Amino acid sequence: MSGPVARLAGLKVGPAQSEPSGDFGLIGLAVMGQNLILNAADHGFTVVAFNRTVSKVDRFLENEAKGKSVVGAHSIEEFCAKLKKPRRMMLLVMAGPAVDDFIEKLLPHIDAGDIIIDGGNSHYPDSNRRTKYLAEKGIRFVGTGVSGGEEGARYGPSLMPGGNEEAWPYIKDIFQSIAAKSDGEPCCDWVGDEGAGHYVKMVHNGIEYGDMQLICEAYDIMKRGLGMSYAEMGDVFAEWNKGVLDSFLIEITRDVLRFNDDDGKPLVEKILDAAGQKGTGKWTAINALDLGMPVTLIGEAVFARCLSSIKDERTRASKLLSGPTPKFTGDKATFLKNLEQGLYASKIISYAQGFMLMQTAAKQYGWKLNKPSIALMWRGGCIIRSVFLKDITSAYRQNPDLENLLFNDFFNKAIHTAQPGWRDVIAFAVQSGIPMPAFSTALAFFDGYRTKDLPANLLQAQRDYFGAHTFQIKPEYANDKFKVGAYTHVNWTGRGGNVSASTYNA
Ligand code: 6PG
Repeated sequence: MSGPVARLAGLKVGPAQSEPSGDFGLIGLAVMGQNLILNAADHGFTVVAFNRTVSKVDRFLENEAKGKSVVGAHSIEEFCAKLKKPRRMMLLVMAGPAVDDFIEKLLPHIDAGDIIIDGGNSHYPDSNRRTKYLAEKGIRFVGTGVSGGEEGARYGPSLMPGGNEEAWPYIKDIFQSIAAKSDGEPCCDWVGDEGAGHYVKMVHNGIEYGDMQLICEAYDIMKRGLGMSYAEMGDVFAEWNKGVLDSFLIEITRDVLRFNDDDGKPLVEKILDAAGQKGTGKWTAINALDLGMPVTLIGEAVFARCLSSIKDERTRASKLLSGPTPKFTGDKATFLKNLEQGLYASKIISYAQGFMLMQTAAKQYGWKLNKPSIALMWRGGCIIRSVFLKDITSAYRQNPDLENLLFNDFFNKAIHTAQPGWRDVIAFAVQSGIPMPAFSTALAFFDGYRTKDLPANLLQAQRDYFGAHTFQIKPEYANDKFKVGAYTHVNWTGRGGNVSASTYNA
């Protein structure tokens, strides 16, 4: 909209004004972008809005943004001209080449010291690259995680900014004003260098995959193992939402289970059981493999989505492969308590694994990740927000160098309390032929992590047997032949000589 119509509506569009009024600029008017603009405008900032299809700018100004401190721009040049310096500009466009395209389009119109923020779900190596590339041009780049969906963007998301730290003093006020608050504290803080913000968002999404899979497994065992109705299951989730599992995802599950279609039947029952995914969970699992970290729960959650998506093949398999018929004979109320505890214990493992991964990444990539602030940022606004994250925040505030979440007294006690019920639930699932991959892998991790001597001694012997891959000796068995720390190869068969040991690099 321009000219008289714009004047009538009291909207500021058209050619750049001599005095720029924009505190913050946003490119990309899909619903997340629109909602972030309205959120920033509600907090007293004048926002300049631009979209590749410019008609969308006018529609937005005439409708959702009407009467708000939002200014439209019809070109990148106008967008830049309307922003106060240093310019603070956020891109909320599709992750990937579109981000690079817009950066190139902005560059001719901006000045040294200006700040470009990418708020999409970008892969962190891209943010590493963009931070370096733009720093060479004197532009400060920020890659920020934005979580909370449409509602979060409008009324308070969780924001996880990282990149060029020089930008932080200039964006802190906007970011912390528009972010969700938890006990009065903003769910936003500086995460770290380069792609650290997008890295933390990636791990957030991986954990989101894990939480969702755990909930789905609890639903499945209630439905097929206990034969519960949707109304009953909705009530269980409602109850769980008052206890240790109190969280956004439990709350929406309660609502989903209670939601009936026009014919009075639960809508969820009619939804095709083939899960989609955009890739952030997969990136987390790949990164965990790259860093050699046992982030098993997120891995299983990704694979569970993959298994779900081969629906046609599963349908054929269901006619050829049989298993036990679930027969529940125990006390239902006790089982449901155990299930709650099992879900809680599995969640503790998942977050412990997520923090192990971030801790390793920080070391590997030279980032100073602040664990208490990460837990705080996830406490409110985001999809994994929960009461549980308050306890994680406290654990890391008590000891920011905590080696593992399971070493904190609160979580140590919690997992030991949950353990018997957790095992009962998984045992029943195994006997019933109902898959609980996320619950099971969490328990397997727990049992492996608390085991001093794993069977990897045999594995090392096998490797050395067939491939001369060498092994190290346990310190208590060291002697002249097998020295501590030395890599030794043994001739296991005696073929081609005596049974002997050769030692390499002590
Ligand atoms: C968030 C969400 C958001 C999005 C996921 C969905 O934090 O607000 O994580 O980023 O909903 O990308 O991911 P999938 O499509 O892969 O499930």
